[in-house]
Amino acid sequence: MANLSNELNAYLANLNVMAQNVRNMHWNVIGPYFTALHLATGKIYKDLACQIDEVAEMMKMQQMQPLARLSDYINEATIEELDARDYNEYELIDNMVAGGHELMKQAKEIRDTADDDDNFLVANKFEEYLCCYAKMEWMVRAMHIDEYRRDQDDEDDDDDDD
Ligand SMILES: [Fe+2]
Repeated sequence: MANLSNELNAYLANLNVMAQNVRNMHWNVIGPYFTALHLATGKIYKDLACQIDEVAEMMKMQQMQPLARLSDYINEATIEELDARDYNEYELIDNMVAGGHELMKQAKEIRDTADDDDNFLVANKFEEYLCCYAKMEWMVRAMHIDEYRRDQDDEDDDDDDD
């Protein structure tokens, strides 16, 4: 049976790694969309930082112990840390979408476990997070993904011709 405390800590670990990855890209994004992406990642970083605090405090309210050490977050997280280097808009979008999917998948599992446990506090909060992720995913994808896909398809066609 799923253990809500363990699931929340795994989520907290991923939130921390994701927040740092977003901050890394906020600093290191390059290219023609720098301003828009710098501002967007700054806002997303702040939202994630608020969520980290909210999840940890939600755990404390329920007599659960939230992980608090960076080394524990790294050990528990399934999202990988990004290197310190420049990121173009396509890499940024890929990283945002991949991390967002992972968080959304975990959030759904936590919502389901909380529902099974009749834990309305956690279930309601995670419904709210799932709505935020859906909106964030739409906004990130809407930025340039079609153009990116077209470029990728052209590359694949070129490879096929070789
Ligand atoms: Fe900043």
